[in-house]
Amino acid sequence: MKQLIIQGGKKLFGTINISGSKNASLPILAATLLVDEKITLKNIPDVKDISTMINLLESIGKKIKFSNSRNQIVITSKKNKKLIAPYNLVKTMRAGVLVLGPLLAKYGQARVSLPGGCAIGSRPVDLHIEMLKKMGAKIKIDKGYIVAKVIKKLKPNKLKFESISVGATENLIMAATLCKGKTTIKNIAIEPEIIDLINFLNKSGAKIFFNSKRIITIEGVESLKGSTHSIIPDRIEAGTYAVASLISNGKITLNRIDTKAMKNIFDVLKLSGAKLNSNKKNSVTVSRKKIKSLNAKTIPYPGFPTDMQAQLMSLLCLGNGKSIIKEDIFENRFLHVSELKRMGANIKIKNKSAYIQGIKNFTGAEVMATDLRASVSLVLAGLAAKGITIVNRIYHLERGYEDLVKKLKKCGASIITKNV
Ligand code: EPZ
Repeated sequence: MKQLIIQGGKKLFGTINISGSKNASLPILAATLLVDEKITLKNIPDVKDISTMINLLESIGKKIKFSNSRNQIVITSKKNKKLIAPYNLVKTMRAGVLVLGPLLAKYGQARVSLPGGCAIGSRPVDLHIEMLKKMGAKIKIDKGYIVAKVIKKLKPNKLKFESISVGATENLIMAATLCKGKTTIKNIAIEPEIIDLINFLNKSGAKIFFNSKRIITIEGVESLKGSTHSIIPDRIEAGTYAVASLISNGKITLNRIDTKAMKNIFDVLKLSGAKLNSNKKNSVTVSRKKIKSLNAKTIPYPGFPTDMQAQLMSLLCLGNGKSIIKEDIFENRFLHVSELKRMGANIKIKNKSAYIQGIKNFTGAEVMATDLRASVSLVLAGLAAKGITIVNRIYHLERGYEDLVKKLKKCGASIITKNV
């Protein structure tokens, strides 16, 4: 097991180059199953979830090699295919369910392990299944697997999601891409990562028409062709390091960001007292005078993202008054609260809201990470805390943050990884 040991109280100054988006890379990697020809993907983050997805694609029938660096991969197809996404891979990375749509569209069948729940909630996939059935897929659950097949080909349809789901939107877009005829889907998620998937597919010959009113039209095509695509920056990683600058009362410049995609995050951070200066394209310098309390709610894009909720909470724990954060996306995404309280935070949970009373300082403590974003909220609190913070179970962090320790150290943080 590995731990992070953080000596808090250091103001962070410096520059951080933001990596490619994990949550754009995962669906785009799954989408390569739709294509036989060579695909080159650039700006892929070197994180555990990506390695797991690469292992999954290789087990299904892709040949993947790194070129130049761990951030650029070339994907080609092997002859034999194994249309299965096994439990041992999907259980650690829920996004494995994203191979369901492409496999059905391309091969007419798939056996995909149900992802199961995780720390932040039951994470069902009923919306994925229900909508694929409406495109003609025969789907049953057998021994923990989604067993899906199509008699001939998927059928185009007019679909409408009853609730917004990032993953289900991605699965259905990929399924419809090779489905002859016109499919329309309403009430889709419109996160920047989904737009990046659409851009990648259209670059590969798909015919996907998206207007911003959560409606999409897909003209199915016979086949897709090889392409080269560079993944968009990771807006959640960038938001996380913006909070690192604010919580440590430092001044960090974030490079290689997508400023437009970060508007909802930056708007809330500005309410908390952040000063954001942008002296060059795709770059912003983050600092603050004091931390102001505020009320926020997590909602689908273009609202404030649930993936930034834990990080914002760490910051507001040091705010100048009372703050409220409502978690409206997941049913159990407050697991970081009990750990932050062990560091002195004053937080009460009622229904889906966290009521935070600002304190002067966190006190360093030994804490435990439970999921990707909860883990990083503990690191952020440790950066500001008086004394030493030890974060356990940091494999959660390695799933989604490339070179986190290196990037923070470069800005003056006293943080080391220790094997125990
Ligand atoms: C994606 O997960 C992200 N993961 C999550 O990021 C992110 O928190 C989430 O979208 C919301 O933005 C990736 O992109 C790999 P959803 P996803 O389907 O697709 C319910 C991170 O930290 N739901 O939009 O699984 C679901 O339970 C991760 O990087 C159903 O009820 O999220 C949740 O309450 C964590 N039935 C809500 O919808 C379904 O079939 C939103 O989930 C699907 C979802």
